[in-house]
Amino acid sequence: MPAPLEISFSKSASLSGGTAVLLSLFGSAAPSGAAIADPGQALTRAIEISEFKGKALSALELLAPNGSPADRLLVVGLGKPEDLTAQDWLKAGGVIASKLGKKGKATVFLDLDGLAVTGQQAADLALGMLLRNYTFDRYKTKKSSSDDVEEADAKSDKPIKVTIVTAAASDAKKAFADAEAVAGGVILARNLVNEPPNVLGPVEFAARAEELSKLGVEVEILGQEEMSKLGMGALLGVAQGSARPPRLVILKWNGGKTGDKPVAFIGKGVVFDTGGISIKPASGMEDMKGDMGGAAAVTGLMHALAARKAKVNAIGILGLVENMPDGNAQRPGDIVTSMSGQTIEIINTDAEGRLVLADALWYCQDRFKPQAMIDLATLTGAIMVALGTDHAGLFSNDDALAASLTAAGLETQEKLWRMPLGKAYDKMIDSRFADMKNTGGRFGGACTAAQFLQRFVNGTPWAHLDVAGTAMDSPKTEISQSWASGFGVRLLDRYVRDTFEG
Ligand code: BES
Ligand code: MN
Ligand code: ZN
Repeated sequence: MPAPLEISFSKSASLSGGTAVLLSLFGSAAPSGAAIADPGQALTRAIEISEFKGKALSALELLAPNGSPADRLLVVGLGKPEDLTAQDWLKAGGVIASKLGKKGKATVFLDLDGLAVTGQQAADLALGMLLRNYTFDRYKTKKSSSDDVEEADAKSDKPIKVTIVTAAASDAKKAFADAEAVAGGVILARNLVNEPPNVLGPVEFAARAEELSKLGVEVEILGQEEMSKLGMGALLGVAQGSARPPRLVILKWNGGKTGDKPVAFIGKGVVFDTGGISIKPASGMEDMKGDMGGAAAVTGLMHALAARKAKVNAIGILGLVENMPDGNAQRPGDIVTSMSGQTIEIINTDAEGRLVLADALWYCQDRFKPQAMIDLATLTGAIMVALGTDHAGLFSNDDALAASLTAAGLETQEKLWRMPLGKAYDKMIDSRFADMKNTGGRFGGACTAAQFLQRFVNGTPWAHLDVAGTAMDSPKTEISQSWASGFGVRLLDRYVRDTFEG
């Protein structure tokens, strides 16, 4: 496991030992760190001979030449200066973190000829390092699976001290305070999703969310009885097959003006989805521990907003249940009454997320009258068939909201692709016996699921993000090597900044 990183910023550094990290622009011979001694031009020659060109995200590792003040040199390519985006700085940070190894310290030189690096860019680079460095190895008692003789305590590596050297050090420090808040949120979300389902039930998840009160978040937790009094028959129907009771968590961050209507984020938190009586096949079912990825992202987002004291009034709502088959479990054919009063015929007990969200959305709208409502849910396999793992599905009743979210997706590279809602999909969930049924048949599964949710939205600007393909079992990237990506935290933090703090 990688050692933790301790990142600081400085205007200058006297190098003695450790890794010197240099950056290089595409096609330019001179890397950053011009100030470091290069006796006999050995370093310059080594870079030349290796044909390192400074291509984006390429890396060259060198043992420091004799007489150099560093032990090791790492040169990382940035690509062309005119194309550099915030995400490129994050990725460059990720590449650096991946090459630091386990020991000692590193000094990263940012100042380049022909490119004035801003404090924000320096902080983005540091954020990329933190996100890349994340691993989830809480349950590994050996150092590595191939190396089973080493003791667990060998894991407790000392932190690597990283000094980022830049003329913009004081701006960088300020920007990094916010970046650390966001990193903390992403890592919290990843931890929740990676956690095994025996450890993280609804009660345990709620307890973790409650820890946000340390950051000034107001936390309320509703139990079964309270939800029953509120008439949340849809959510409770899902929970009734589990020995572990459900929870509804309400998180409030009041960083905006008093009286300003809040923006609300609602997360599907199915801590484990067996499918219930409509049980899933065994193969891959272990992945359904991640079926609370929406709730994890909302928790991570609320952490980020509170930790950086965002100037916004935000509500987070987590619908936490476990979907189990049991003598008391809900059956196909059951009809439940939601908090809205609308009745739902259960066709398939595996379409449980929409039942949880139906009551969570209604409750949110009814109690908080939010100016906008955004739900995140690992809702359908169908969205993975449609979009794969590169985009989450975006459904919305409001074009402006959809546009803001899409833009935030492009900025953070947590990308969204808008999908359709409409009468034709809505018709597909009409039921013979109740107001609606909980599945819409074979075709358009992600759309009929979204359409179902919309029946619980009363005109409030609303967006639904189907993150089944992006929250878990995620492809490895420069800034994530984790099964759980933490998708949604950076996206919605960016949305909040651009929409409410601009
Ligand atoms: N949690 C699943 C969706 C899912 C599948 C998330 C794969 C992540 C990876 C959801 O509750 C579900 O089971 N959906 C069903 C709906 C169907 C029964 C209408 C699906 O997508 O198959
Ligand atoms: Mn399901
Ligand atoms: Zn599910």
